[in-house]
Amino acid sequence: MAYTIDVHLSPEEVRNQMRADALQGLQGDTKSIPPVWFYDERGSRLFEEITQLPEYYPTRAERALLEAHAAAIAGLSKADTLVELGAGACDKTRVLLTALEQAGVLTRYVPFDVSDEFLRSAATTLSQEYEALDIHLVIGDFHQHLAQIPSDGRRMVAFLGGTIGNLDPAQRARFLFDLNCTMSSEDSLLLGTDLVKDPGRLVAAYDDAAGVTADFNRNVLHVLNEQLGADFDPDNFRHVALWNEEHQWIEMRLRAEGAAEVSLAGAGITVRFDEGEDLLTEISAKFTPERVERELSDAGFVVEEMWGAEDGEFLLSLAHPYC
Ligand code: SAH
Ligand code: AVI
Repeated sequence: MAYTIDVHLSPEEVRNQMRADALQGLQGDTKSIPPVWFYDERGSRLFEEITQLPEYYPTRAERALLEAHAAAIAGLSKADTLVELGAGACDKTRVLLTALEQAGVLTRYVPFDVSDEFLRSAATTLSQEYEALDIHLVIGDFHQHLAQIPSDGRRMVAFLGGTIGNLDPAQRARFLFDLNCTMSSEDSLLLGTDLVKDPGRLVAAYDDAAGVTADFNRNVLHVLNEQLGADFDPDNFRHVALWNEEHQWIEMRLRAEGAAEVSLAGAGITVRFDEGEDLLTEISAKFTPERVERELSDAGFVVEEMWGAEDGEFLLSLAHPYC
């Protein structure tokens, strides 16, 4: 095998967690399900398709920043280990891996993700390109398993793509604090955050003309059907993307076109949707550089450098723990 792997989430644990999330999120007056459940293999592939869409600018904007500044990032971090949270296809990672290799210090890459099969296949491809690299996969949930990530060496922890924006403010504070607790003063955090911009552009990025984001959104219903024996009719749910000005985030919802009674046999519940009722499936928070700095500082990080703040598209921040 071209990599080593630690699995902290077995298929049974995934089902148990999903059952708990369904029980908590689907039975109240307002319904929601956490975005982590988009990402079975099909969902991960649909996300990769999204990153190629003309309307979805974040991936291109972040890649351009990485390409422009990877050498500086590698020089500042001096990391021998790159840890990547929510690594997905490990695609933009190549820019960082190459820069760290050229800086002459990189020995190990630790991609961390909940999407088991997808990460294995991405790592197999990567191992053919970076033959000297020790690739150590970790399958887990970044709300639960940060402390299980290998912590030896001088690490740069990359959390790219704006995925931190899929956490609500309380989850972000908790996540950053927990992450900080696992890091040494020599480690660094490379954080990618999408920036606030014209709402029309933001909504278009989450409601593309080809309907790929709509399929990605509805995929969560397929996952619930498969994993929890639910009987959602995905065709009865319309994709909705809207800008929440108060909270400065995009919301993705699934709106029931007709009233429905959905059984989730694996969770032992039946859920009623009224016509027009929404299921909140994702928030995607957009930031200002000041807000990123404040949230990092509140969690015990000092920002060393930020890239991208001037053109207002996307932001990369390199930070390290106080002390
Ligand atoms: N970093 C990549 C992929 C972003 S998509 C990029 O920038 O393009 C978000 C990724 O985070 C997916 O691969 C998904 O499986 C993973 N993910 C989402 N929630 C997660 C969680 N709670 N724990 C671990 N991984 C998670
Ligand atoms: C992974 N995450 C940062 C994406 C985002 O933009 O919030 C997920 C996504 N949802 C719809 N399109 C992309």
